[in-house]
Amino acid sequence: MSKYSRRNFLRSGGALLAATSLPLSVVELAFGKGSGQNFTFAYISDSHITHIKGNQFVNNWDRGLIRAVSEANLLDPKPDFIFYGGDIAQLGKPEEIDHGLEILSGLKTDVHHVMGEHDYYLDLGEHWRKRLGPDHYSFDHKGVHFVVLNSILTFDDWMHNKWSSGVERMGQMARLDNPQGSPFMVGEPQRDWLKKDLSKISKDTPVVVFSHSPLQKLYKGWNFWTDDAEQIQALLKPFDKVTVLYGHVHQIQYNQIGNISFHAAMATAWPWPYPASYKQSGAHLPKLTVDMNRADPFFERDATGWQFINMDSGNVDVHYKLPDNQNRIVAYDEKVGHPVDTRFQADADRIPPQTHY
Ligand SMILES: [Fe+2]
Ligand SMILES: [Fe+2]
Repeated sequence: MSKYSRRNFLRSGGALLAATSLPLSVVELAFGKGSGQNFTFAYISDSHITHIKGNQFVNNWDRGLIRAVSEANLLDPKPDFIFYGGDIAQLGKPEEIDHGLEILSGLKTDVHHVMGEHDYYLDLGEHWRKRLGPDHYSFDHKGVHFVVLNSILTFDDWMHNKWSSGVERMGQMARLDNPQGSPFMVGEPQRDWLKKDLSKISKDTPVVVFSHSPLQKLYKGWNFWTDDAEQIQALLKPFDKVTVLYGHVHQIQYNQIGNISFHAAMATAWPWPYPASYKQSGAHLPKLTVDMNRADPFFERDATGWQFINMDSGNVDVHYKLPDNQNRIVAYDEKVGHPVDTRFQADADRIPPQTHY
C-alpha cells in the first residue's frame, strides 16, 4: 500500500475498515495475490468551460477546474496519472476546449481523456481529436488494463441530416432534458474494436473502463443512458474484476451489475439533480446508491468536486473530494461483492437533508 493511500485510509478511515471489517494487514496481503500493485490516480470531470466573448469565460466554471488542478498537484505522493472524464467545453467551441486544456496543462501529471457530448456535437469531435488524439484507446498500467470508449455517439441520421447547423445540433444535446435529443451509444465499430482489444488479455487481468455516459441504463429522459450498454457489459462479463468509471451525471452514483462495478464522477462545474427527483418518471438511481446531501445554492461549490481513486488489488476505492460538503469514500467490499459507501450506507449515518427556503 502506498504512503498516500495508507495515510488516507487512516485519516478517513476507520469508517472504511469498519465497513469492510478488514484489518489493514489483510488489505495489504491481498496485493500479493495478483500481478498488480496498489496505486492511485485522480479523476477530474465535467468542467463545462463556457466562452462568453473575446477572452472572457464564465469565471465560476473556470474556478472549479482551477481548484481541482491545484489540489491534484498537492497530492503526495503524486497520483500515477489523472483521468479527465469529458465535457471540458459547454458548447463544443474550440475556444472552450483550448481554454480548458490550458488550465489542465497546469497538472504535473500525465492526463488521459474521454470525450463528452459537449465536446462533440458542434463539430463532431473534430477540434477535440485535433488536440487530444483518438477518442477510443487502451493502455496497461501496473497490471491493470485500462480502456477508454467514446460512449456519446448516436445515429448517423440524427447527426448528419436532422439539423441545419452544428450549433443547432449542439444546442439540442446541451440540454438536460433533451426532447429532440438522441440516445447515446458506443456503436458497432467500437464494440468490434473492444472485442479485439479484450481478446489480448487474460481473464484475471483487472479491467477499468472509462466512458462519459454510464455504461448502464439509468434514465433515458436525461440521457443518463447508453443504448448498447448490455452489449458492452456482455463483452466485459468474462473478466474477474471490472470497474466502469464515468462522468456526465455530475453526481455520486455507484452500482454493481454481475462482475462490473460502476462509479460516477462529480463535476467541477455544477451538480445535476438526481433522476429520482423527477417525480413524473419515478426513481432511476442505481440500486446501491446512497444519494449525497445536496445542493446548497449558497455554497458555490456544493455538490461539485473531483475524485482520488485507489486501485486496491483490482478493485477501486473512490474518494470523493467535495470542497463545500463532506468527503465520501465508496469502496468495493469483498464480503458483499459490491461497492459500499463506507460512511453513509447505514440509514442512521445519513446526512440529514438541508432545508431550503
Ligand atoms: Fe457534463
Ligand atoms: Fe455529458
